[in-house]
Amino acid sequence: MRAVVVKAFGGPETVEIVETAVPEPGPGQVRIKVAASAVNPVDAAYRAGVLVPLPEGGLLGLGWDVAGTVDAAGEGTPFTTGAEVIALAYGPAPLKAQAEYVVVDASAVAPAPASVDAVHAATVPLNTLTAAQALDLPGLAPGSTLLVTGAAGAVGGYAVQLAHRDGITVVALAGADDEELVRSFGADRFVERGAVTGPFDAVLDAAVIGADALAYVKDGGDYVGVIPQAGPPSVRGIRVQVVEVAADGARLAELVKLVDQGALTPRVARTYPLEQAADAHTRLAEGGVRGRLVLVP
Ligand SMILES: NC(=O)c1ccc[n+]([C@@H]2O[C@H](COP(=O)([O-])OP(=O)(O)OC[C@H]3O[C@@H](n4cnc5c(N)ncnc54)[C@H](OP(=O)(O)O)[C@@H]3O)[C@@H](O)[C@H]2O)c1
Repeated sequence: MRAVVVKAFGGPETVEIVETAVPEPGPGQVRIKVAASAVNPVDAAYRAGVLVPLPEGGLLGLGWDVAGTVDAAGEGTPFTTGAEVIALAYGPAPLKAQAEYVVVDASAVAPAPASVDAVHAATVPLNTLTAAQALDLPGLAPGSTLLVTGAAGAVGGYAVQLAHRDGITVVALAGADDEELVRSFGADRFVERGAVTGPFDAVLDAAVIGADALAYVKDGGDYVGVIPQAGPPSVRGIRVQVVEVAADGARLAELVKLVDQGALTPRVARTYPLEQAADAHTRLAEGGVRGRLVLVP
């Protein structure tokens, strides 16, 4: 099968396609025939070598998000062949989701949404889970105020939708061109970069503003970052926490229900054939993409 990997860290040109054996699922695992896999900022970070070293053997696979069909199921998994699923392919491995087949733990898998195609479904796992798990950290009560930075992005957009649904008063920070978009997610207020007034009970910093975003949090409030091990030092009694996404098929299944209810909106910017993975990385690096770039094997 074909798979997207890097063998050396660098720019988009280091993204390669290799021919390799189809992986076999072990006990508790399933093999998914991949229909689509989104390209996320974490893929760019893996490619650039800023997150993890090359695994033994010298291949680092790319692709955390997958939508496809269960093609082989190991012992003790609740999924049967032919099931339409999505999954989070978590962490570093020589082969990941940007491939013709991927093996994942069944505990990371959920039934695919019925309301969207596989290309849109492939944008759901990483960023809905991250947004939901980030919102768990401050545990805000209905009526609390939350500033979401990067609200037009994948994590930020889903976070606005989830927080709005939970009765939180959501203020969305984004560029002026994105006002209509973030209001459509349920933001109660829109603020442009450079025009934020606060303070808010909490900030979810999906734009990675960092220490400067603490100025928007009330004394003793909450800051939630998205870059593990890189939260800014606390000031004024602010509780600083950072989300590190965890694969959680049961939670993902709940989020899939919200997709099917129209409460979460998967967004696709464009698709690329798997062979053009490097072009997708080039486009992502240019910035300003709204919706995900999705690879189709
Ligand atoms: N911790 C985890 O487990 C985890 C999981 C998933 C993602 N992440 C991280 O979360 C971050 C967001 O991911 P994503 O997929 O949502 O990225 P994304 O879709 O590219 O969204 C980021 C958004 O932030 C905006 N932005 C950038 N700088 C800004 C600034 N100074 N002020 C306001 N907005 C700004 C961007 O706007 P422009 O495009 O106009 O610049 C974009 O709308 C990434 O760093 C990603 O690696 C972490």
